[in-house]
This record gives sequence, structure tokens and C-alpha cells, in this order.
Amino acid sequence: MDSYPIPRTCPLDPPSEYRELQAGRPITRVRLDFDGSEVWLVTRYEDARAVLGDARFSSDFATPGFPARLTSQPPGPGTFIRMDPPDHSRLRRLLLPEFNRRRVEALRPAIRRIAGTLVEDMAAQGPPADLVEALALPLPSQVITELLGVPYEDRDYFHETTKVIGDRNVEPEQRMKVRQDLRHYLERLVAERERQPADDLLSRLGAHREAAKVTREEVVGVATLLMVAGYETIANQIGVGTVALLESPDRLAELRERPEALPAAIEEVIRHQTVIDYGARRAATTDVEVGGRLIRQGEGVVVVLAAANRDEEVWADPDRLDFGRFGDLAGRQEHLSFGFGIHQCMGQLLARAQLEIAWSVLFDRLPGLRLAVPLDEVPFRSDMFVYGVHALPVTWG
Ligand code: HEM
Repeated sequence: MDSYPIPRTCPLDPPSEYRELQAGRPITRVRLDFDGSEVWLVTRYEDARAVLGDARFSSDFATPGFPARLTSQPPGPGTFIRMDPPDHSRLRRLLLPEFNRRRVEALRPAIRRIAGTLVEDMAAQGPPADLVEALALPLPSQVITELLGVPYEDRDYFHETTKVIGDRNVEPEQRMKVRQDLRHYLERLVAERERQPADDLLSRLGAHREAAKVTREEVVGVATLLMVAGYETIANQIGVGTVALLESPDRLAELRERPEALPAAIEEVIRHQTVIDYGARRAATTDVEVGGRLIRQGEGVVVVLAAANRDEEVWADPDRLDFGRFGDLAGRQEHLSFGFGIHQCMGQLLARAQLEIAWSVLFDRLPGLRLAVPLDEVPFRSDMFVYGVHALPVTWG
């Protein structure tokens, strides 16, 4: 039996074994490295959508058979990404108005200001520079402080904290302590905003939470979830996406000639470089047939989003970076990088806006941007949770 995760051989492509599985055993049993348990691995696009769109598959960590991860700890209250309806729906509903198009549009000037300052600072201090340190990490961290309404005087504390949480070299005890600290900080902030509301997400959640039957503890959990879900993902999508673009000079030239292609380019880079590398986890709450396979109650499933996004049945020449796939936004095929079904990413519009602004500011300001080291010296993250780069040495001019 194969074990999972399967290591990559090429940094910008998922393991080639996925394609063999898609052809011969698209839904197959694998042994998880983390605890030796067995789960179903789902690699085809259609099967992936079938699992993610089926309420009989649970996202609840406590459901028997839920697939393990090395750092699996029961999530705290409010962590609705790991909940099923009705609790999932109650919390997701509270947050829905915060991530619609209108709200994200309103955040754009702030995102542009933050990205502009970061790229100017990078240009002033370089070349060379580490793009992760200069832009990919601080941008989402500062956008989240803006969104939540963290007071200016606390922003340095907040950025340091998010950095520690996202840093895999930090000792587990230190990370736990920092998380605990952050929780207390957010508890105080939520209570303060309930007494004295401002124009920010935490105040609005505070104002609506009683009517929505959500506790203050859950609001704190929701805020923590937003930080975790909206930080490492974006940072790595900027990092590894930039590598993919720099490694495709024709595509970069296309963007320079047709800046209006940027939204399609963002979509294609998100498909091509699927950063949720482990996949989406579920457990069957009853016997379910998917793609001709019977998955029994209590069995775990890992849906490999990176494999589905390169499925040859759905995407022509899937390893090619081709902005034309998303050129006609009306008739396009949806990629699965943001998931599918009731748990589909709530921050996807915000993620797209950050990527769009980061790349347009970066390539406008530094048109000669290129890698400062050969591709095989870029430190890619291979811990198989969120894929990306630890650092990205770049140069220009
Ligand atoms: C490129 C960046 C991002 C990627 C690739 C990404 C990917 C995903 C995926 C795959 C899921 C579904 C997980 C599952 O079904 O088990 C998800 C859920 C979620 N994401 Fe994102 N995400 C990104 C950015 C963000 C941002 C910026 C935020 C908010 C600030 C965010 C908030 C959430 C939340 C709250 C959920 C849980 C939704 C639910 O369970 O109903 N994400 N994301």
C-alpha cells in the first residue's frame, strides 16, 4: 500500500504518482505517515467534487475515522472549518457579510497602500531581497490587522505573533504559549469592541453575535481561525506563485502586454500552484459510493486538491501555465484550490484581491525582477501542509 504524503520530485509540480493513480486507481487506500492509519485518497476532479459536495462526509475532527495530521489537536470553539452543520452554518452565516464583494472592494485601497509601502521599502533596500520577508509575509499579516480592527499601537505585537505562529522552526511549547497569549489578547479586544464599537469586523461580529446565538468565546475562535487561514495560505501563494511566474517568462511578457489578463492569470496560478498540499480531509458518516467505490462509515478520506487541479480529464495539458483557461470568466471550469461545497474558502475574494495587488505593484515597480539563485537553490517547503517557499531570493535592475 502506498504511503501518504507522497514526496515531490519537481518543486513546481505535484508528485507524478498522482497521474498514475488517476489513470488506474483514482480512489485508493493509502497509509498516513503521521500515525499509520489507512484512509481513502481521492485524486480525480469529479470524485473530489463529489466528496466535498456531499453532506455525508464530515469535516468534524471528532468524527470517527477523521484523517490524522502530525499536529492534530482538537480545535477550539469557533473553529468552524472543522465543524458540520448546524454549528458550521451558524458561525459561517455570521461571517458571510464580511467577505462579500462589496467589503473586499472597500479593503482594496488599504491593500494597495500596504503593498505599495512594502515594495517601496524592498526597492530602497535592495537588490537583492527576500521576497517572503519583504512582501509575502507582511502583506497578509497587515491586511488581517486592518480587517479585524487591531489598534495601531498593537500592530507590531500582532505581526510578531503571526510570524511565530507561521514559523515551523519555533518550538511547539513556544508556539502554544504565543497562541495562548494571542487568544487572551483577542478576548480583551473583542470585549473592548463590544463596549465601544468601531468600524471593523470584530465590532460587527460583537454587535450581531447574540442575535446569531454565538458566544464571545466563539467570536475569539473565529478571529483566530481567520488569522491562521488567511495568513500562511496567502503568504505561500504569493511566494510559490511568484516563482511559477518568474519561471515562465512568456507568461510574464503576456501580462506586461495585456495587464487586463491579470485576473485570469491569478486564477491560473492558483490552480497550477495549489498550496493546500495535504488536501481536504473528511470522514464518512455513513456508507457512501463515490466513483464506483464504496466508502464505509467511519473511514477517512483525503481529497488531493493539487491532483484534481491537474486532472487531464478536465484540464487540457494541465501542467502548462495557460491564462487562457480562465479568459472567459463566465464559462470557466472552477479549480479546487479554494475547496468546494459548504466549506469552500470564505476568504477567496480577499485572497484574489491581495494576489492581484501584490503582483501588479511588484511587477510594475520592478519590471526586471528575477530569481537571485538557481531554481534548485530556492528553499521550497516540503512539510506537505501548506506548500510554498521558506525564502525567495530575488534581484532586479
Ligand atoms: C490563497 C489563499 C487561500 C487558499 C489557497 C485557501 C484555501 C482554502 C481551502 C481549500 C478551504 C477549504 C478547506 C476544507 O474544505 O476543508 C478554505 C477554507 C477557509 N478559508 Fe481559505 N484559503 C486562502 C485564503 C483565505 C483567506 C485570506 C481567508 C480569510 C481571511 C480564508 C478563510 C477561510 C475560512 C474561514 C475557511 C473555512 C470555511 C468553512 O469551513 O466554511 N482563507 N480555504
